[in-house]
This record gives sequence, C-alpha cells and structure tokens, in this order.
Amino acid sequence: SSVSRDKATQEIPAYGCQRRTPLHHHNKEITDALEILALSASFQGSEARFLGFTRASSVLKSLPFRLQSVEEVKDLPWCGGHSQTVIQEILEDGVCREVETVKNSEHFQSMKALTSIFGVGIRTADKWYRDGVRSLSDLNNLGGKLTAEQKAGLLHYTDLQQSVTREEAGTVEQLIKGALQSFVPDVRVTMTGGFRRGKQEGHDVDFLITHPDEEALNGLLRKAVAWLDGKGSVLYYHVRARSQNFSGSNTMDGHETCYSIIALPNVCPEKPSPDAEKIEPDLDKNSLRNWKAVRVDLVVCPYSEYFYALLGWTGSKHFERELRRFSLHVKKMSLNSHGLFDIQKNATTLLHRRRRYLHILDSHMCRPPRETP
Ligand code: GTP
Ligand code: MN
Ligand code: MN
Repeated sequence: SSVSRDKATQEIPAYGCQRRTPLHHHNKEITDALEILALSASFQGSEARFLGFTRASSVLKSLPFRLQSVEEVKDLPWCGGHSQTVIQEILEDGVCREVETVKNSEHFQSMKALTSIFGVGIRTADKWYRDGVRSLSDLNNLGGKLTAEQKAGLLHYTDLQQSVTREEAGTVEQLIKGALQSFVPDVRVTMTGGFRRGKQEGHDVDFLITHPDEEALNGLLRKAVAWLDGKGSVLYYHVRARSQNFSGSNTMDGHETCYSIIALPNVCPEKPSPDAEKIEPDLDKNSLRNWKAVRVDLVVCPYSEYFYALLGWTGSKHFERELRRFSLHVKKMSLNSHGLFDIQKNATTLLHRRRRYLHILDSHMCRPPRETP
C-alpha cells in the first residue's frame, strides 16, 4: 500500500553503511542511469557530482519496492533535484535524455575505454584524450610513454576485460595459498573484495594475508611472489612497501600491497573480439594457450590490525567511504584499514567501544550479497 511505502521511504537512513544494499534490487534501470551520470561526472573531474549520483543510486538500491512515481523519492536522502529529473524521465519515458547524450559522447566513450586498462586512472586517460587519443588502438603510437603497469594492462587487455568467476577465484586462492605456505605453513589467507560480499564474479581477486607472529610476515610477500614468478605464473607485479610513518588520522592505508597479473592455468580462452586483435597482435599465437590472465591484489597486515584491514578491503568502495564518513561525523572517530581512532582523545583506540563497534559492523558484513558501489 502507499502508506507502507511512505513509511519505508521515511525510514531509510542517510549513510550507506546503515542500509542493506542488495546486489539484486527493484530499480535497476534507474540506478544504472544514475551510475552512468556518476561515472561521467568523475570523468569530468567533478567529485561532488560523482558522489551525489552515487549516493542517490545507493539509496534506491535499498528500496524494498519498484518505484512507480517520482513522488515516492521526495522523502529519500540524497535524491535531490537532478536525480529526480533522471528518475522521472525513466519512469515516464523509459529513458533519460541526459544519460543517452552522455553514453553517445566521444569523451565518455573514450574515457571509459581508456580507464578500463589496468594502470590507467582518470587523470592519465584525460591527458591522453586531450592529446588526441580516442581508442585503445591509438595507444600503440604512444609506445614508450606507457608505464610498465600500463603495458602489461594492454598486453593482457582481453583477458582482464572478462570477469573472474567464483570458481576461478577459488583456483587463484589455491595458487596464492600454496606460494605463501611454502614459506610460512600456517599463514592466514582470506579472500576479500567483492567475492567476500557474495558476488559471483569480479574484476580481480583480493586477498588479505596475516599471521600472529609478525616476524613471519617480514619479506613474505616478495618471497612468495618471486616463487610464483619462478614457476611462470606471474605476468606482472609491483609491490608497494608498507608505509612506516603511518598515523591514525591518515585516510590512506599503509599496508604492504602487491598489485599483480597472474597466469591462471586450465581455462579455455574465449574467442577474442575483433577490437582486441588490433590491440594484441600476438593473440593468434596465444589462442592455443591454456591460461587466462587474472588481476590479483595481495595485502599484508599485522595481526593486530587484521579486522580493520578485513573490513577495509571487503568493500564496496562506496560502503567504505560511507562507513568512514559515518565514523567521523556521527561517532567522532577516524576509521581506516589500520584501526579506529578517537579523534577527541588524540588517536588512541578505545578498546571497549571498538569491540561494540566491530560487532555492529560484523553483523552488517554477514548479509551477502551487497552491491558495488
Ligand atoms: P570487483 O573487484 O570489481 O569485483 O569489486 P571489488 O569491490 O572487489 O573492488 P576492488 O577489488 O577494487 O576493491 C576491493 C576493496 O579494496 C574496496 O573496498 C576498496 O575500497 C579497497 N581497495 C581497493 N584498492 C585499494 C587500495 O589501493 N588501497 C586501499 N586501502 N584499499 C583499496
Ligand atoms: Mn576486487
Ligand atoms: Mn582489488
């Protein structure tokens, strides 16, 4: 009934971390449209508009019913004027003119293609666009100007565009665990990211590595990756060292991290798209290969920071952003992948509050699947 619908919309909390955001929900046409506008805003460097559309989309994902009229969003947080125009057009016409214009624009299409390359962020893509780069094949002319990461991203572009299945993620887990356990038999390895949220596929596979004896973690990541490399399983990697001068108010995470591309054995490669052949001239040669390139992120954390790191690397990105904003503004505490810090007591972790807090968070984390963002 409309009364219970009104009640439902009035009860939706403002922070993403206070809501259920299921993977499958009732308003996908609208959230897809809002997310295109969010992406377009980020391509134009407008963080505020990106956040506005992302928050509106996130709120609509938590609605327990399908919207029938724009009136129904009037009490919802973050669903302001611009989002309402989009919602109304989709409800009335099935499409939104602004979204169609964005989708057809050369800037949006080029930025989307360029940022889909591993190692290419918005700033790089925008610079290339201004230099006249429009498609992936234009990048062959840039040659020497590409970083090692970007070269690897282009080389394995077709494979990396395909999503990683849960089954493949399991195979990656065996490979990674095997490498780490050959040095530290009782090392703890947890799959994080989208798969931990219950997603059935992802753009990469994320792992968190820890051990009660922090000495055992010294140099482990580099040794394990070198071991895998020696077996021919590593196509690209770089390790970001742990940052030593890490402080509680820091919003960046300082854990030792390895960003890699792994050759996953025993998968039948799919037929490549014609576009991919232009980018990867060696594709024919590779078509008989029995491996698939998969992006893998490995994070090492001290045992004492494990639950914060687990929370921080489970995502989604929007959930994490909202959780940190909630911590800061509502709880007056600063949260990152290292700990929870009371900013009024000058960066000391309060144990009793932390336990209660983590209990709340944990009950939230146990409701898969949650969507990105
Ligand atoms: P798919 O991989 O696309 O399936 O989704 P995902 O949610 O797993 O995304 P992603 O692998 O990009 O990130 C997983 C989680 O790790 C997210 O919560 C991010 O906030 C976090 N994350 C990703 N990259 C970094 C990073 O460089 N530093 C930190 N601290 N966190 C990161
Ligand atoms: Mn991931
Ligand atoms: Mn990742």
